[in-house]
Amino acid sequence: MAWGTATASYQIEGATTKHGRGTSIWDTFAARPGAVRDGRDGSVACDSYHRVEEDLDLVEGLGVGWYRFSLAWPRIVPEGVGRIEPRGLDYYERLVDSLLTRGIAPMPTLYHWDLPHALEDRGGWLARETAEAFADYAMVVHERLGDRVDVWATHNEPWCAAYLGYAAGVHAPGRREDADAHRAAHHLLLGHGLAAHRMRAAGASAVGIVLNLAPVWPERAEADETADNVDAIRNRVWLGPLVDGAYDERLLAIAPVLVDEELVREGDLDLIAGSADWLGINYYTPLRVDRQDGDDAVPGAAPNPETHAYPGVEHLVLPTRPPLTDIGWEVEPRGLEELLVQTHARTGLPLVVTENGAAYRDVVGADGVVADLDRIDYLRDHIAATERARAAGADVRAYVVWTLLDNFEWAEGYTKTFGLVSVDPATLDRTPKASYHWFAEQMRTRAAGS
Ligand code: FCB
Repeated sequence: MAWGTATASYQIEGATTKHGRGTSIWDTFAARPGAVRDGRDGSVACDSYHRVEEDLDLVEGLGVGWYRFSLAWPRIVPEGVGRIEPRGLDYYERLVDSLLTRGIAPMPTLYHWDLPHALEDRGGWLARETAEAFADYAMVVHERLGDRVDVWATHNEPWCAAYLGYAAGVHAPGRREDADAHRAAHHLLLGHGLAAHRMRAAGASAVGIVLNLAPVWPERAEADETADNVDAIRNRVWLGPLVDGAYDERLLAIAPVLVDEELVREGDLDLIAGSADWLGINYYTPLRVDRQDGDDAVPGAAPNPETHAYPGVEHLVLPTRPPLTDIGWEVEPRGLEELLVQTHARTGLPLVVTENGAAYRDVVGADGVVADLDRIDYLRDHIAATERARAAGADVRAYVVWTLLDNFEWAEGYTKTFGLVSVDPATLDRTPKASYHWFAEQMRTRAAGS
């Protein structure tokens, strides 16, 4: 099994107005009062745009074979379509070349949520043109880097882009379109399919998509149907088209917009079927599901905005059980094991754990050391779960830690830290945490043992 670490453009790069980069939906969303917990944005982030060599030194020091990063579409096609900004391409070319010089394989993701704002003005992912524009952008990138990149990912977590972005409204673009969010899901899949076909025709051989599939666990028998509906919107909306070339009946019943022939046009599903050569799985926590009947709402309990990310699923409650990380996500490595075994059985595809990691409140000790033992435990237990899934037959090719650096954690701003390396908010100095040293030690002992 191969090993890696991951980042995403908007979360680390900063330099959002440099070298002709266009505005992204995360720039405009973060500027809305109340959208991001600490009111901050990615304009500086970790300033990785200027410190990329230092950051790649840290990747190299970890001893991993893979670095997963994303490209900012608005750096390359600032208005989403049309004019190409060569300085954006130059930046990623230098990054890729620097990785290769270090003996690290690049694993680029083409879309990790920073849509050019100009496209949002024309409907964003609710518009079919965005899928076509995505495929054009993918080809621009492939043309420049295709001779040096072997493994590509199109989208990162399209569920978040579609349902947190267009139904719950807690991610950019922050819209509450309810069932129309399914349109975004279809167009994201279509964009993936169009890009994958064109990239493959141009010589790419390993084009995948990264999904945050989740094991869905009903709390009690009365919640089985609710859980099935949640599973349809979280998992099957992607796997159905990708594997079977179809949305299943239950999903169509709760998402009738997917029957609309203006949306799902003839040929779309055939194009999407079989379009992924591999699947990335991002896993943090299982999804427990319950339903709230009648008036038994817990008095005073704040409604969870994420329940709106499942349009058409009524009376939904998403409970968690301790232990929880600092972002409130339940720690349950068994969920990862189950998900890998089931997804491999369902799809037959090679899998990569493209993200796994934990937010904990880090404390810098008097000696300057962040002794993040809870993060080490989390990683150790989830790596063990991955190994159990492999032993049970799941074809898992790599495990990639989220994330290299403490960074802009979307709607949570800088309040939640997942990094193996801490970033000083004032100086942006990087300091590897105990988990970084632990992971590097794992890499050394595994390399010595293999
Ligand atoms: C995932 C995202 C990633 C990061 C982690 C914590 O949903 O893909 O960018 O924010 O969660």
